[in-house]
Amino acid sequence: MDHFVINGTVTLEGEVVTSGAKNSSVAILPAALMADTPVTVENLPHIDDIFTLIELIQYLGAEVKTNGSRSITIYPEKVHSWKAPYELVSKLRASYYFLGSLLTRFKRAVIPLPGGCPLGPRPIDQHIKGFQALGARVDIQHGFIQIEAEQLTGTQIYLDVVSVGATVNLMLAAVTARGKTVLENVAKEPEIVDIANFLNAMGADIVGAGTDEIKICGVKKLQGTAHMVIPDRIEAGTFIMAAASTNGNVLVKEVIPKHLESVTAKLKELGVDLEVGEDWIHVKGCSCPQPINIKTFPYPGLPTDLQALFMPIMTRARGTSVITENVFEGRFKHVDELKRMGANIRVDGRSAIVEGGCGLTGAPVKATDLRAGAALIIAGLLAEGETAVSGIEHIDRGYEKIEEKFNRIGAGIKRVRQE
Ligand code: EPZ
Repeated sequence: MDHFVINGTVTLEGEVVTSGAKNSSVAILPAALMADTPVTVENLPHIDDIFTLIELIQYLGAEVKTNGSRSITIYPEKVHSWKAPYELVSKLRASYYFLGSLLTRFKRAVIPLPGGCPLGPRPIDQHIKGFQALGARVDIQHGFIQIEAEQLTGTQIYLDVVSVGATVNLMLAAVTARGKTVLENVAKEPEIVDIANFLNAMGADIVGAGTDEIKICGVKKLQGTAHMVIPDRIEAGTFIMAAASTNGNVLVKEVIPKHLESVTAKLKELGVDLEVGEDWIHVKGCSCPQPINIKTFPYPGLPTDLQALFMPIMTRARGTSVITENVFEGRFKHVDELKRMGANIRVDGRSAIVEGGCGLTGAPVKATDLRAGAALIIAGLLAEGETAVSGIEHIDRGYEKIEEKFNRIGAGIKRVRQE
């Protein structure tokens, strides 16, 4: 498999432009199949998850026209199938959004159970509980979820767990259900707001996205629209952390600073010199990082997706830092890889204790998920000597041309293709 070769140490300098949000895009494309007329989506990131989803919607019968670098038009009128194939679905978890979207279009859907994941168990019980509350029958057998309903009827649904995926999937299933649906204890991520804005532009009637209660009045039909995906706050956060970690000077553009408030607040505590503009964040360096404690929470808390990205700089701090992961049970798989590079980190339940003051040295390491992979790239930039990061297929799923973006600010990363 391909791997990245990184020679540290590196100080990043220059400008980087954020792409469109992966976690909006992977819901918007399946949702487009609920419309009767063409849907144009702008500012799509060039990532493997999007390429897989385009293959999936074409498999289901939709035509897709590429309008240039980051824009496609989906023609949903010819969608004829409600069954998604295992070999495509198994490539990305977010394919479970076809449950909500095909249930709305066909009143049924057959989707392979989403694959396992290195973040720990990722059940979909809240999705299923919500579909059943709306009147759908759900069967899980032979590794497939079969779901159908003569009529979806609005109701009140309280999520036992704050779940981005369940919030989105139940919005998709409720938009043309008969009557009113109230979703409570829902996720408030900016991507939820982006997806709700897209659905409302298609004619849905959704209020409250971004709060912990979303009200949806069912409408008769949805028509096509044009939508611009919001910037990817996690990609922006990745480059901000990389710049700070290397004591660099980097301007990150195409950012909505409000979406990163919890991150910039922590970075100031860490000792990062940064300036926040209208649609940019300028990292000017971090010569003496301070030890900090971080806890991940659903939005607007510190995002779990940036948890791994905080670890490399903590190895430079003078003192002990503690990371507590409150969202996923198994999201410390990058710790063992960082320890191979000389990091002194101890995992105790949901916390990782990072002893600072130790220099990292280059080593062969393996990415277990896209964010862990990005953290290993940052560690490679900090480390003395050569680091080889394998498992980069995980990184390519969610970061657009990551080594090209890093190399434009001085990283010197080489992508080595494995024959
Ligand atoms: C979304 O995953 C994101 N993925 C993840 O980003 C992100 O880490 C996560 O939300 C949390 O913010 C996409 O949007 C495609 P959840 P999702 O449902 O929806 C538990 C990345 O790096 N749970 O909010 O799968 C679950 O086990 C990816 O871009 C249930 O118990 O996450 C977890 O502990 C990684 N039952 C917690 O809730 C359910 O039915 C949050 O999961 C659903 C979830």
